Amino acid sequence: MKNIAILTSGGDAPGMNAAVAAVIKTAFANNIQPWIVQDGYKGLITNQISKADIKFADSIVSRGGTVIGSARLPEFKEEKVREVAVKNLKKLKIEALVVIGGDGSYQGAEKLSKMGINCIGLPGTIDNDIVSSDLTIGFDTALNTVVNSIDAIRDTADSHNRCMVVEIMGNACGDLTLFGATATGAEVIATKESPLTKEEIISQVNELKKRNHRSVIVAVSEKQFNAEELAKEIMQKTGYDSRHTVLGHIQRGGKPTAMERYWATRFGIYAVEQLIAGKSALYIGLDGNTLVGRDIESTLNAAPKDRTQEYDAIRKINKGV
Ligand code: F6P
Repeated sequence: MKNIAILTSGGDAPGMNAAVAAVIKTAFANNIQPWIVQDGYKGLITNQISKADIKFADSIVSRGGTVIGSARLPEFKEEKVREVAVKNLKKLKIEALVVIGGDGSYQGAEKLSKMGINCIGLPGTIDNDIVSSDLTIGFDTALNTVVNSIDAIRDTADSHNRCMVVEIMGNACGDLTLFGATATGAEVIATKESPLTKEEIISQVNELKKRNHRSVIVAVSEKQFNAEELAKEIMQKTGYDSRHTVLGHIQRGGKPTAMERYWATRFGIYAVEQLIAGKSALYIGLDGNTLVGRDIESTLNAAPKDRTQEYDAIRKINKGV
């Protein structure tokens, strides 16, 4: 193998750059020319594919976002569109591709593998919703942003004897909310996997009011409630002066944490090693402390992680029941 390309796809995530850098450096270390595809699958179609150099790799490790750009390209599901991608890659004699992104990106990678381009997927999303990996690139940094934000919100909540509703991103996955709430002692947690009704939330906040809690944090994952309306109703029905904050895209940016860079680098090295070993259509995941390669198809059909015990345990100690 002489040429490997790399792209980032879907929502940007801190640590993607460290993974890109690791792929570039591992390729050079094995006498392979690395190529960068700009703006995800879109760059394969528009032929924005250029040679990477080692200085570029060294300059991006600490940066947030993805410096090679990302885009969502629903049209990539169409075979005709993918054929253009394969043609452009083959023209440059690129026979392998590392795709960093969420599970939407893997479907494209799996299909490209069947069309003669060996693809390896790396889990890159703040949501931690790739079920066959314990950790996704971006999760640790986003989690730290969530924790710092809730800590800051707690200062005001304590100062003013308030209840604060905090809405946390994660698409359909509650991990950022669960882990963030656990790390900050948020009293009430509601996610898609472990939902609460509005009435249950209000009843829990009322219980906390009876116990003279100085402040209450209600951590809710996105798409569950209208956070502003929920805060208003809590105010009307519990007596707590209440406010809401939607953390939103602030969770996606920022410098990657040390652990993020560490694992992203390990993921990147491992991806190139797998390609050199002749593997294809693999999705790399973290299993405990071990990197593993699983076939993309089984990854896409795996059952979601069951965190019931974690929810029960944290609710019990934070007296949000
Ligand atoms: O997948 C990452 C994520 O930030 C989700 O948490 C969120 O639901 C979605 O992307 C937002 O997407 P966009 O940036 O396209 O609005």
